[in-house]
Amino acid sequence: MRAVVVRPPAPGATVEEVPAPLLGPDDVHVAVVECGVCGTDLDIVAGKYGRAPAGVPYLILGHENLGRVVEVPPSAPGLAAGDLVVATVRRGCGACPYCRAGRSDFCATGRYTERGIAGAPGYFAQEYGERPEFLVRVPAPLAPIAVLLEPFSVVEKAIAQGEAVRGRVARPSPDGTGVAASALVAGTGAVGMLATLALRSRGYAVTAIDRHDESTVAARVLRTVGARHTNVAEGLAALGADRFDLVLEAAGAPSLAIDLIERLAPNGTLVLTGIPDARTPPLSVPAGALLRGLVLGNRAVVGSVNASHADFEAGLRDLATFESRWPGAVGALLTARRPLAEAPAILAGRDAGSIKTVLTVGTGAGPAPAR
Ligand code: BGC
Repeated sequence: MRAVVVRPPAPGATVEEVPAPLLGPDDVHVAVVECGVCGTDLDIVAGKYGRAPAGVPYLILGHENLGRVVEVPPSAPGLAAGDLVVATVRRGCGACPYCRAGRSDFCATGRYTERGIAGAPGYFAQEYGERPEFLVRVPAPLAPIAVLLEPFSVVEKAIAQGEAVRGRVARPSPDGTGVAASALVAGTGAVGMLATLALRSRGYAVTAIDRHDESTVAARVLRTVGARHTNVAEGLAALGADRFDLVLEAAGAPSLAIDLIERLAPNGTLVLTGIPDARTPPLSVPAGALLRGLVLGNRAVVGSVNASHADFEAGLRDLATFESRWPGAVGALLTARRPLAEAPAILAGRDAGSIKTVLTVGTGAGPAPAR
């Protein structure tokens, strides 16, 4: 089968013929429909991240996926041929209490694998096999946007973490009748935009920041969902004196993340989701003032990575809500669909102004055949 292949830590990606996956007796056979390109993929292609499976000289890239079931084993009664599915990414270490409890997204040993990222083949390929417990069935009406479910699951977990911490003191009014909590979203890529929609639908007054003017797709979607957009190309001073109850970072820039701490309102929570380059040169920070502000203001900083099965399910529910509240807004985030053959060129650079580029592999994300 054809697949996008990398050989970390060597940079670059190629489209190659590789052996089709060997399916175990309990594996569901899935034909890939389409896959999203993520900043993590670009980091792997740049040689900064990622690891091939043990004993295999290459890694099939890709973790943001949508596929159609080809064949199901008898052990997967909830699935049928023709169903659309999204596969989760992380496979737990099997040893720590978190992985044993089904929360490999909190793995404590670091000995997990992640499909398309670390030690397990990904989804930029024509097909894959997977056990049914790692597949999430997608309702047919969500097919055109379901390729965003994996990144959205990361958002769902991050917001849940932020709200768990915020739950110490306050909750926003979901029906909008109370005083809305304020949120700042740093970054208007797919994660930042999906976070903005999720926070708006939960009743937050949202400000989203990036380094662009009002002419982008992101700025238009922000207007549609009633979020404020601020261009911080000249610095966070563009936010004036504003501080926020919940800050969600989706940019991966260490200096910005530090500056965001100062944007927390008293009792506020900063959730970090961007994965910075560990080789970033050290920063000089006013540690005393920052830590003093955290303590005296009951402020919190929390990191969040990956997602649980429940976060994927929550993502499906929220995507359906967005489609009825802001029709077309989520689809607008899919700024390009390109054939798999173009992957090497797409993965070689960050496409300014695009939000999510999707690689088309199989037949389109149309509705599933009737069951
Ligand atoms: C993926 C997560 C993964 C993380 C760290 C992200 O791009 O969406 O599933 O856990 O990278 O590797």
